[in-house]
Amino acid sequence: MCGIIGYVGKQAAGPIVLEGLQRLNYRGYDSSGLAVLDHDGALAVMKRAGKLAELEASLTTPPAGRTGIGHTRWATHGAVSDGNAHPHLSSDGAAIVVHNGIVENYRALRERLAAAGVECRSETDSEVIPQLIGLYLREGHDFDEAFRRVLGEIEGGNAVVAMERRRPERLYAARLGNAGGIVLGVGGDEMFVASDVPALLPHTTLVQPLANGQWARIGAAETTIRDLDGAEVALAPQRVSMDPVAVAKGPYTHFMQKEIMEQPRALSDCIRGRAHVNPAGVSLEDVRLSDDQLRSLRRVLIVGMGTSMHAGMVGRYYMESLAGLPTDCDNASEFRYRAPLLGPETLVVAVTQSGETVDTLGAMAQVRDHWGAPRVAITNVEESEATRLAAGSAIYLRCGPEIGVASTKTFMASMAALYVLACRIGAARGHLRGATLERAIDALLTAPGIVDRTLAQAEICREVGRVCQDVEHMLYLGRGLQYPLAMEGALKCKEISYIHAEGYPAGEMKHGPIALIDRSMPVVALAPRDPLYDKMWSNIQQVQARDATVIAVGTEGDAELEAAADVFIPIPACDPLIAPFATAIPAQLIAYYLATARGADVDQPRHLAKTVTVE
Ligand code: M6R
Repeated sequence: MCGIIGYVGKQAAGPIVLEGLQRLNYRGYDSSGLAVLDHDGALAVMKRAGKLAELEASLTTPPAGRTGIGHTRWATHGAVSDGNAHPHLSSDGAAIVVHNGIVENYRALRERLAAAGVECRSETDSEVIPQLIGLYLREGHDFDEAFRRVLGEIEGGNAVVAMERRRPERLYAARLGNAGGIVLGVGGDEMFVASDVPALLPHTTLVQPLANGQWARIGAAETTIRDLDGAEVALAPQRVSMDPVAVAKGPYTHFMQKEIMEQPRALSDCIRGRAHVNPAGVSLEDVRLSDDQLRSLRRVLIVGMGTSMHAGMVGRYYMESLAGLPTDCDNASEFRYRAPLLGPETLVVAVTQSGETVDTLGAMAQVRDHWGAPRVAITNVEESEATRLAAGSAIYLRCGPEIGVASTKTFMASMAALYVLACRIGAARGHLRGATLERAIDALLTAPGIVDRTLAQAEICREVGRVCQDVEHMLYLGRGLQYPLAMEGALKCKEISYIHAEGYPAGEMKHGPIALIDRSMPVVALAPRDPLYDKMWSNIQQVQARDATVIAVGTEGDAELEAAADVFIPIPACDPLIAPFATAIPAQLIAYYLATARGADVDQPRHLAKTVTVE
């Protein structure tokens, strides 16, 4: 969850590290720090609790030196304080480390250090890493060996970047488990390392992620990558297609706003070349499953977390109706600790925009190791661990980097990717053919336009945000395909506006939640014209009978709903399977405008981080 950046080369490292931290600011942002090493071994370390601006304000002159590392923290062990911020150093300052993940055996390691006379100065688990490296250095090992030994001793998922005080011309980096990525960036005669690609984009698009269990000694002239057994791994960087301009906010106030507005393009990019009408069909070259394999499937299981799981819940409907297969959608953190029964006839689809969410990766590893079931990853990050765990069978979302912590465009694209995958499976199995396949593809191709037209309702959503900004609770209701959208709307509301919200299947409401409803509880009812419309209408009547303010999202021209609701937000008439793309827009915009009306920090909501790499 923390952000990591490192540089070694001929330029001044301080400004590069600082600028990298600005780009990584969406990962963790409760404190930050950097360390810069000069060629003569002079070391400058600055760290501050609070937003990155606190660190920037404390840096009157950038520290000198051509090697540097930086870190934005999302606290796990130890309070948010200057002392707990990274980098951490060994007591003698010989080893300087930034870390992402959790050293699960840190208590035992602290005791070992204490027995050797080394007292940790911070409350973090991370500090044991530089302290242990320092101990090994003092025993006479070189840094390579000390680093490697420590990697073998720390337990849990961990990503580490380190500097050696005595050898300022190089960095060390390692990835152990699924605590988050480490990506090497290859420049002319300089090297970069970061926890994810956007931090590298202004400098290079030539990148190589470290795989689980790999570590690297990184020098401007020479970089060596090894696995934990010492076997050398080739440095073979790939060009990534991410556009550095896409990482900028442009004319928008917030990244979330920008990302909401660019959803028609994100959807078109995701669908382009994959869904076509003439001849009707889908092309998914990156999904390396043959027609025979698809025909042998008996079941689909979709896993993900948060917003990605909500996309998966929509995907469940697509799989059932378009692929004709029984489908479940599960929370990855629950799935991975159960004992589900899977086999080669179950296709497991992991939805993760970052490709690095620890629980989703854990679920995929579980599937690979215990059941050998076929896997597909739906992700926005090429070369992510999720892609590797899916044995290369991936659908890339092609959204460009999503910086807002609240996922928006990747939600849309994930639904589209699931739709395309369902069509691919349905066509291979003969469940969709001829005119039905054509209709399904046609419907999907309308989605970008429908989203575009729904964005025109932003003003109504702004007004909802203004009027409801002081409420304490919100209820989101939907049925069928709109139930996951109700969950997603409530999640967005909670995470950025801090208003308590619940998303419920509307039919479930009268089994408990209806007791909460009164005049002070706005209810967002997602009620497009679909086969469950009449049922939804009854549920709206039931909440109205209890005085709730109803904000109805319905099909344009639905005069009856418009007259009944306190606020009516129209979406274009569309195929019910496509309606989630449209209703997602008010779900996102209401949360956005609630948050801005309340003065909340939309792009950096409290306690959250973009990529969740700890359990
Ligand atoms: O990177 P992932 O898609 O795996 O992330 C999963 C969740 O952490 C994520 O969707 C989270 O719920 C959203 N940022 C909420 O807006």
